Amino acid sequence: MDKGGCLTYALTITILTCTLSLFSFHHTTTAQEDFKIRQVTDQNHQTTTAHGGDNHHNHNHNYLGTPAEHRFKSFIQQYDKKYTTREEYIHRLGVFVKNLIKAAEHQALDPTAVHGVTQFSDLTSEEFERMYMGVKGGGDRSPLLGEVGSHAPPLEVKDLPESFDWRDKGAVTEVKMQGTCGACWAFSTTGSIEGANFIATGKLLNLSEQQLVDCDHTCDKKDKESCNSGCKGGLMTNAYNYLIEAGGVEDEDSYPYTGKRGECKFQPDKVAVKVSNFTNIPVDEQQIAAYLVNHGPLAVGLNAVFMQTYIGGVSCPLICGKRWVNHGVLLVGYGSKGFSILRLSNQPYWIIKNSWGKRWGEHGYYKLCRGHGMCGMNTMVSAVMTQTS
Ligand SMILES: *[C@@H]1O[C@H](CO)[C@@H](O)[C@H](O)[C@H]1NC(C)=O
Ligand SMILES: *[C@@H]1O[C@H](CO)[C@@H](O)[C@H](O)[C@H]1NC(C)=O
Repeated sequence: MDKGGCLTYALTITILTCTLSLFSFHHTTTAQEDFKIRQVTDQNHQTTTAHGGDNHHNHNHNYLGTPAEHRFKSFIQQYDKKYTTREEYIHRLGVFVKNLIKAAEHQALDPTAVHGVTQFSDLTSEEFERMYMGVKGGGDRSPLLGEVGSHAPPLEVKDLPESFDWRDKGAVTEVKMQGTCGACWAFSTTGSIEGANFIATGKLLNLSEQQLVDCDHTCDKKDKESCNSGCKGGLMTNAYNYLIEAGGVEDEDSYPYTGKRGECKFQPDKVAVKVSNFTNIPVDEQQIAAYLVNHGPLAVGLNAVFMQTYIGGVSCPLICGKRWVNHGVLLVGYGSKGFSILRLSNQPYWIIKNSWGKRWGEHGYYKLCRGHGMCGMNTMVSAVMTQTS
């Protein structure tokens, strides 16, 4: 994952920073930071100068006693955070302040969503990426033709409903929490199988991510360095290949989630659902909608850079790298009425299930605008077929 994940992330940051400088000059100056911190922290329109940091180096100590620290303290309470030493506290305060600035920047770039303090506001970008994402590489993963996982044939798109949501039909399990383990790919995989199994059998089961975390070391056929490796990342298409070989996936009760990579304890006689095939969906978002409606919830990879600060609304950033896919999620539906200030129209959006618990986003879900290949959400989409014996 380091190869894919961190490298790609560094590129994303560069692009964002370049773009941001058009909006905000150099946000390294203290005055500029103060301004932004006040924008984010000052709910009561106080006019105090944030901190006495006319020193350019901006040691984190300078944030002590500022409105930003006040905000940090309520964050600690709200999310029940614990820092064992004073040093850790001061370090996390510094990170928190950077994330306040980042939230303000995201807000400026993504005005139709709400960005702010989340449970991840004390993590650096690198920590966040390492702990909460975990899709390796990105871009085109088209398989060799004629094999398992070939490209799907185009579907008719004329009669698609205006809006659609698999949650209403009972095909989606509760939002889960991957914890500090980069196993998003496993949650995206189980989500798509849970949906396909529900549609085939009428039964909704929670399926085991831990089996994938512990047992799946499958590598991508075209890129031998993209191998599934537990909490360090993986790919949903690798996981389907593993499950086809292994004979299926157990359910959550028989193989519960621990959030840590452990020894493989897969028991073939406990298989709950068998996987027979999967298919890559074309990048055309009308096709994605058609597959979603006709087939079930789809596994999707995207660039999660705006998700660290996301609170709600339709995310439709001015710029979001399409090629740096680093997070696996589940597409469960779409809507048509999310108003976009930016584009001055009703912006169609996707409904995306995440695996960061229900306290994140809109009860665990993310809305992303539809029709722009936003954040690369159309580049790594797959559907799975289950086997009913
Ligand atoms: C798997 O799905 C692909 C694409 O839909 C199809 O072309 C292929 O024949 C299927 N393979 C098997 C073994 O069913
Ligand atoms: C899945 O697990 C969650 C959390 O344990 C539970 O609340 C939910 O009822 C389960 N869903 C199904 C369909 O078993």
